Amino acid sequence: MHCWSIILAAGSGTRLSAATNGIKKQFLEWQGAPLFWQSAITFSHTTRMRGLVFVFPEEDIDEATETLKKLDFGRRLGLPWKVVAGGARRQDSVYNGLQALPTECTHILVHDAARPFFSATLTNTLLDALEKGSQAVIPAIPVTDTIKVVENNSICHTLDRSTLRACQTPQGFHKKMLIEAHNKCNEEGWEVTDDASIVEQAGYSVATVAGEMTNCKITNPEDLAMIESKQTSMPVPVTGWGYDVHRYGEGRPMKLGGIPIQGGPQVVAHSDGDVLLHALCDALLGCMGDGDIGEHFPDSSAQFDNISSGVLLNEVYDKFLQRGYRLTNIDLTIIAQVPRLVPWKPQIKKNICRMLKLNDDQVNVKATTEEKLGFTGEKKGIKAVAAIMALRG
Ligand code: CTP
Ligand code: MG
Repeated sequence: MHCWSIILAAGSGTRLSAATNGIKKQFLEWQGAPLFWQSAITFSHTTRMRGLVFVFPEEDIDEATETLKKLDFGRRLGLPWKVVAGGARRQDSVYNGLQALPTECTHILVHDAARPFFSATLTNTLLDALEKGSQAVIPAIPVTDTIKVVENNSICHTLDRSTLRACQTPQGFHKKMLIEAHNKCNEEGWEVTDDASIVEQAGYSVATVAGEMTNCKITNPEDLAMIESKQTSMPVPVTGWGYDVHRYGEGRPMKLGGIPIQGGPQVVAHSDGDVLLHALCDALLGCMGDGDIGEHFPDSSAQFDNISSGVLLNEVYDKFLQRGYRLTNIDLTIIAQVPRLVPWKPQIKKNICRMLKLNDDQVNVKATTEEKLGFTGEKKGIKAVAAIMALRG
């Protein structure tokens, strides 16, 4: 099986537009990206997915492609993708998407970008069914409302609820069969709202699997609450870890956590050699997924010669706060045989609390020796580690 997905994002969102100042729903910002990106991310979590076709409105195609390139910087999706222009009706957009599939593709999932909350598990369930030989398989959930057929505000009859299902996307198909069914649909002029309808009318059977209650389609203004409430949901916890070493020798007077350690050995360093603040900077960068201190402040640059590590920390921490992170706590350990650090710990802690605007119980400073073992035990140098936890809002 070689499966691609078509992500349909070429609608005009007319039912919602009054509530969004005309922004098409697939382009509404959610968790820092347009809504259609969420579906791409979920598909990328499924290892059997081989590629994606995005279908955008003709007039938005250049801008949406640029946005996609930025979002997929560093090949975040890990999947090849293509972009095509949609058509007037949903079924025309699917048809255009089908034309863009590579020849080696054998199966296809068709998905509405307006359903951003489907899971990778649902995707896998659909792929399992296709792999076992289903020609067409779609998610469906039992209907809980009583459904009646109404004409001119008057009820004609009531349907038997036990046989009714509300159908969702992604919908899975054998590619050749879906293309044949779409061709027939075009020849005979059918009007449909999903691909399963085309396949049914073309005479194929369609299997169902359990859909997801959370897999709602954002359609009407009231549905915006779904993205708003999820937007203001719990911040995400992130962790960072940092490690640094400095050699003892003629160089800079020892500083730890911004505090001059009088009587301590000198350290060899390009900056002021504050091993603890370097580990802390690296831990902050770790939380942000933003490389290490050497990348940001290269020791080959004269600009950073003897620079105060407090200044480096300020710069990294400013970026950290600007990007919406906030520290919950930090735990620091200094490892050295000499000097004896116990008397310095309270001062170091106080200074770090001040620099990071944290309370006493959010910062911990520990010191240990390595029992005369290794390079710290031989008094050749000093090392420090920093573990931090933060929330990304
Ligand atoms: N869609 C599409 N091309 C169209 C129409 C719809 O790709 N010509 C997509 C939409 O972007 C959406 C999905 O099909 O992801 C389901 O359609 P729907 O919920 O009806 O969205 P819209 O057509 O955009 O909204 P409305 O009907 O309110 O205009
Ligand atoms: Mg529509």
